[in-house]
Amino acid sequence: MRTAIVSAMHEELAAVLALMPDESRQPVAGREFWVGHLHGREVVAVLSRIGKVAAATTATVLAERFNVGEVVFTGVAGGLGAGVQVGDVVVADRFLQHDLDASPIFPRYEVPLYGTGEFRTDAALTTRLAAAAARALPAARLHRGLVVSGDRFVSTTPECRALQAALPQALAVEMEGAAVAQVCHDYGIPFAAVRTISDRADDAAPGDFARFVREVASRHSAAIVEALLA
Ligand code: ADE
Repeated sequence: MRTAIVSAMHEELAAVLALMPDESRQPVAGREFWVGHLHGREVVAVLSRIGKVAAATTATVLAERFNVGEVVFTGVAGGLGAGVQVGDVVVADRFLQHDLDASPIFPRYEVPLYGTGEFRTDAALTTRLAAAAARALPAARLHRGLVVSGDRFVSTTPECRALQAALPQALAVEMEGAAVAQVCHDYGIPFAAVRTISDRADDAAPGDFARFVREVASRHSAAIVEALLA
């Protein structure tokens, strides 16, 4: 069975590719899919690109062309939940699009014609991923719960407060996970996602994000992927 490793950033993908001895590049839809092995397991590694549409295209190509049996997403996110701090790790048990609103025709956040706004990650794969994160980063605080996605980098304290008020269960915010979760739901492919918290989605987010990506993110996601597939 082939595992897809989807990274949100170049730094993370590079660190994953460094663990693959035999990767070969397969271009599809303007993306580079890297097929090979990691710890002897069949893997395809790819950059999700940023935002929900780009991530959905990447996930669709993985499903249609690469015969993947499971999809694992690694990246960074802004912390929303009380106590979800920079450097913490969030494993998603479900996703929702915080910027989707077809009300009053459909309830706020509901994806039209799906009857829900929340897409659960695969329970078994999520448990494996959380265990891998705990092994790889024993000093990091680990959270598990709702992650919300939208096509905006949340970088003002008022916007962060508004999200926290509207979605009090949300642990973290990012820009791709709900899209990949929906595509994987459509294709019946198990999906799990882990995000390291790079910022608190507030006025300090742009500086915190840049520093974190430079200094920490790639090491974190490669370590978690390695622990997952070891
Ligand atoms: N990814 C990392 N930090 C984020 C933020 N503040 N908003 C959206 N996506 C993010």
